[in-house]
Amino acid sequence: MFDSTSFIEEAAQKMKDEIEDIAIIACSGGIDSTVAACIANSAIGNLLHCVYVDTGFMRKNETEEIKEMLHELGLNLTVVEASERYFEALKGVEEPEAKRKIIGEVFIRIFEEEQIKVGAKYLVQGTIAPDWIESGGGGRDTIKSHHNVGGLPEDMTLIVVEPLRDLYKDEVREVGRELKIPSSNRQPFPGPGLAIRCLGELTRERVEIVRESCAIVEEELELAATNGEIEIPWQYFAALLPVKSVGVHGDVRAYGETVVVRAVQSLDGMSARYSPITHNVLQKISTRITNSLKDSVNRVVYDITHKPPGTIEWE
Ligand code: XMP
Repeated sequence: MFDSTSFIEEAAQKMKDEIEDIAIIACSGGIDSTVAACIANSAIGNLLHCVYVDTGFMRKNETEEIKEMLHELGLNLTVVEASERYFEALKGVEEPEAKRKIIGEVFIRIFEEEQIKVGAKYLVQGTIAPDWIESGGGGRDTIKSHHNVGGLPEDMTLIVVEPLRDLYKDEVREVGRELKIPSSNRQPFPGPGLAIRCLGELTRERVEIVRESCAIVEEELELAATNGEIEIPWQYFAALLPVKSVGVHGDVRAYGETVVVRAVQSLDGMSARYSPITHNVLQKISTRITNSLKDSVNRVVYDITHKPPGTIEWE
């Protein structure tokens, strides 16, 4: 039986013993990095510098909400606006693994720059067990290079500390609740953000379509769950496919983008079952997406694949 109170005490003590100098942590606002930052903050206090990178791949209004939450948790925070840099590095890149590697590398380079500024020797990361297992750890095949694992360049000089390495998602959430972190019950959001929900080449316009579609999916499913129409899925979002299809816009032929809606039930993200969302709710989502993005999206589909054989994200 997992005991979050003793986990927090032991993890903090281990960090106190391990970290002898200034450390930085990348805070994404997600539960993993926030839990890691709070434990590190209690272990080493002023030695910890938290950095939030605005990659340009965050959800609607997310950056403002995260900044507020991290300040309220008492973390010593620096915000780096880096979207231009990410879009530039990813220009023309379509292959999912190549995208992930570049995103991981830009992320680490930014941290190296911050490291130099603050003189950090350690990098605290919120890597959890499924991240390194699926990145080919423990003798397994690589399924996806997770952002905070596969992207680490070989010449990196920081010493990596990963206090949550052995935990699964439900355990991290339990620790988060114990630490009174407001996002503990929020659905998981991948490190590379909307970049891996925008299949094919990343442009600001395409990412904007995914951002708006994800916001609509979140709003409609949360509303339906509040009304008792569905059970809230473990994770729910939209992705933009690299497929255009023919439609009609007014009386005129249109050739538009395709959005896929994904909603799954899962315990830890390692396996998942697609959520049986009612047609009524799916239809509302479809109508809202095609109305609010009528100049770009003319088709919405629902993914009914379990994991395996699919994965939860599309890249
Ligand atoms: P997949 O798509 O591999 O996702 O079935 C399993 C869970 O992991 C999340 N995910 C990531 N989380 N960095 C992360 O921190 C990543 O690179 C990454 N890729 C996928 C995904 O959202 C799901 O919850």
